[in-house]
Amino acid sequence: MSRTPRDILVTSALPYANGPIHLGHMLEYIQTDIWVRYQKIRGENCTYVCADDAHGAAIMLKAEQLGLTPEQQIANVQKEHERDFAGFNVAFDNFHTTHSEENRELSSLIYQKNKDKGYIVDREITQLYDPEKEMFLADRFVKGECPKCGAADQYGDNCEVCSATYAATELKNPYSTISGSTPIEKPTTQLFFDLPQFQDMLKEWTRSGTLQEGMANKLSEWLEAGLQQWDISREAPYFGFEIPGYPGKYFYVWLDAPIGYMASFKNLCDRQEDLDFDHYWKKDSSAELYHFIGKDIINFHGLFWPAMLTGAGYRTPTGVYSHGFVTVNGEKMSKSRGTFIKAETYLQHLNPEYLRYYYGVKLSNRIDDIDLNLEDFAQRVNSDLVNKLVNIASRCAGFIKKKFDNTLSENIADPDLVQEFQNSGDVIAEFYENREFGQALRTIMSLADKANQYIDEQKPWVYIKEEGKQEQVKDTCSMGINLFRILMIYMKPVLPVMAADAEVFLNIEPLSWDDKNHVLTNHEVKKFKPLMQRVEMDKVNAMVEQSKAEAEAAALLNKPKVTIDPNSPLAQEPIADEISFDDFAKIDLRIVKIVKAEHVKKANKLLQLTLDLGGEERNVFAGIKSAYNPEDLEGKLTVMVANLAPRKMKFGMSEGMVLAAGPGEEDIYILSPDSGAVPGMRVK
Ligand code: 2FM
Ligand code: ZN
Repeated sequence: MSRTPRDILVTSALPYANGPIHLGHMLEYIQTDIWVRYQKIRGENCTYVCADDAHGAAIMLKAEQLGLTPEQQIANVQKEHERDFAGFNVAFDNFHTTHSEENRELSSLIYQKNKDKGYIVDREITQLYDPEKEMFLADRFVKGECPKCGAADQYGDNCEVCSATYAATELKNPYSTISGSTPIEKPTTQLFFDLPQFQDMLKEWTRSGTLQEGMANKLSEWLEAGLQQWDISREAPYFGFEIPGYPGKYFYVWLDAPIGYMASFKNLCDRQEDLDFDHYWKKDSSAELYHFIGKDIINFHGLFWPAMLTGAGYRTPTGVYSHGFVTVNGEKMSKSRGTFIKAETYLQHLNPEYLRYYYGVKLSNRIDDIDLNLEDFAQRVNSDLVNKLVNIASRCAGFIKKKFDNTLSENIADPDLVQEFQNSGDVIAEFYENREFGQALRTIMSLADKANQYIDEQKPWVYIKEEGKQEQVKDTCSMGINLFRILMIYMKPVLPVMAADAEVFLNIEPLSWDDKNHVLTNHEVKKFKPLMQRVEMDKVNAMVEQSKAEAEAAALLNKPKVTIDPNSPLAQEPIADEISFDDFAKIDLRIVKIVKAEHVKKANKLLQLTLDLGGEERNVFAGIKSAYNPEDLEGKLTVMVANLAPRKMKFGMSEGMVLAAGPGEEDIYILSPDSGAVPGMRVK
């Protein structure tokens, strides 16, 4: 009897449209994609949507830095994000953007419904204001010391060092990132979502048993401490949606970001007839809704989001699943160590399925951090996927091709073993369903060990040489290939490309979970092609080196660009081409005393200087007549280039050069050392 498939809507957190996807992000997209692929091959109606998180001051600033409009910036980034996700075979049913009409409509609607119910209040608060630019400063336009840990140069919303979140007014020694001035506090009216009204609803929802324990604990800390009203408005300039009825005020990015999940799904529903938006989002819907997120955004998904949905009369999520952070080689991802690896860089060196497998092995349904140890990564992939899994097929396929015309046997030589493989499907399925991917994969690998053991015991490479044993070899290798086929069904959510290649080799339609119950007999297979290359450490190292170089190049590009006043000396005379230190060291600069300064007959510009180098005297002609009276110079210390080749001039030999700055005429200033310097000292 066929059962009605479940209707499941799944999301991953929306990546910000201000930077590239890196391997830290990829953990979540791989985790979600594995779960979604599992649901799909089980025959469920599972839909996976995502979008770029396109709003907020950070994106506006990034665009400005790149000389782009925010719209251009988010369009460029969306292309890159979609390319990277496709590169890792993350198969969204829709990837949209929060800067979309669907999102504008839904955000306004959800806001309005909450407002009508009295869940939105306006209130006067004090905010930081830039007195020079005459504007309120959104969180990203103000920096200062973190009120919790004291780290310098932290933005006005959260600390990148200790992850604390706070109001901009709490920053110590704040300054405006726009003008550099010290902001003042000024009263302003802002809109708040009245979260405390949802205290009871949230207490119940967070304890309903659908959340992970770690997440429920974290949420109950906030609930116990008492919920605060949430500021959902931001002053212009801001990139986002203007709040209806409040010109110059915008929805805070975190208000419309989760609504972006709905908007992306809406955008898909509008194109796909069999998907009904309301069925998935209406109150008490029978459809399931799951959000996969990182542990840093638990409060948004576990408090604000279910409250906003409830306030607007929609359903709440069935589950919100949080994962931990990625470390590389036991440490936080680091740009200088080259372990801050972009998805794009990884893909230039390595097969995406290596990482899908490795993350899969490491994932459980807990919030623990996950370490990508690069040596272990290579070893694990090689020993499990290449030496165990692929090996089953490759050691059997040769005989089937050479000796048996690429056709599998009519018999199943060891039905018990096949049965064991088939029966294991239930426990593996349960592991997948519960997001215990590590346990699922370990179970599959122990079956792979059994398949290899079986082939070892049957010794086809020995019997192939014996008269009368040919059928036995055919049976053994056909068994091996059938076992491999069942394992590929179980691996398919994790390794979609290898599974597709295996389907080509096996000459079969795309596999679904229930196909485990069948076996291939008297079936022709295709030519076997290697299904996976070994991970080579050289390539891993090259990826790390490239990441290091990319980070160095980006740091140079990101150096804050100062706008040079066109009247400044720097604009008048740009800095000369770079020289090496060796070039600089060739110039011997010395402190000298001007012992005599005289006019030179018939010279308009020159003064003749006698310089004491601390033992030696030099005669130098200097073009400073328009700026100095000779008598004012006598007795002064200055700096000369002492090893400049003597130059014969109309008035005599000039034995060096004194250093002076300025454009000319009376605007010339000779350099003088600080007190304590004596003639003859080298300047370096
Ligand atoms: O933390 C982040 O990267 C956010 N862009 C996630 C948004 S998830 C959702 F709520 F939109
Ligand atoms: Zn801090």
